[in-house]
Amino acid sequence: MLKELWQYVSSTTENPVAKKMGFLSEAISMEARAKRCKQSWGVHYQNCQKAILRASQRAVQKRTVLVLGAGSLHDIPLGILSAQFDKVLLVDLVFLNSARSIAQQFDNVALIEHDITESLERICIGLPVVDTPMAWLDDSSIDLVVSLNLITQLPLIPVRWLMEHFECSEQEGDILGKQLILAHLLYLQLFNGEVCLIADREGIEFDSDGSEVERFDPWWDIESPQVIESWQWELMPLGEHSRHRYQINRVGVSFL
Ligand SMILES: C[S@@+](CC[C@H](N)C(=O)[O-])C[C@H]1O[C@@H](n2cnc3c(N)ncnc32)[C@H](O)[C@@H]1O
Repeated sequence: MLKELWQYVSSTTENPVAKKMGFLSEAISMEARAKRCKQSWGVHYQNCQKAILRASQRAVQKRTVLVLGAGSLHDIPLGILSAQFDKVLLVDLVFLNSARSIAQQFDNVALIEHDITESLERICIGLPVVDTPMAWLDDSSIDLVVSLNLITQLPLIPVRWLMEHFECSEQEGDILGKQLILAHLLYLQLFNGEVCLIADREGIEFDSDGSEVERFDPWWDIESPQVIESWQWELMPLGEHSRHRYQINRVGVSFL
């Protein structure tokens, strides 16, 4: 707990919205959860890294690779990408100091704190307006884009924020969630280079006997692109969130 408090106060995150809306706290909690669930999350991280390397093979040229939702960097084969590409751009709303130390080891790796939805400043003041993002679309050197365990996360904090602070109804929240997911898909489709989307496709909750309790769609009923490869990620092992329940997500890879 003390460590997490220290991480919060010592963070160099510049985006005020990231702190105000709770993205920084979420990144810190996620890092702690990743440590506790090292074994089950490690397999998922390895699968993500392998999928990114397969995507990299599809990129004919290797000038710039853009990774959206880079977060902890644990699911990125950074050493190999840094050797293969001239430039590696890693984007997230928040980077903790641990990610900064890793990135510093590579001369051609840049960490960029940026809101991928380009909508959070407005959402933060209660305006539920979603635009199609534009960043990097004019960079013709981008040969590979990876959206990394990001798309289904985009609505979660913004919708909760609007419901808690601006009396947003469930129906309005649902529309905003769908719009954020669709806008990200549309954005990815606008790049000229190869685009690889890695995202959870399904969440399943089990009780301690292993019986399925609930199955949910992390895509808010938006149709997700065809999956060419998938794996199970034990997101919440038994005892992590509850002593009676555990959750497994199916993560899928698509090329757009
Ligand atoms: C499930 S995490 C995956 C991160 C990373 N790939 C990992 O496993 O550590 C989702 C990431 O999306 C980032 N994120 C959420 N909303 C964002 C936004 N609007 N713009 C940029 N990043 C965002 C979070 O900060 C978080 O790092």
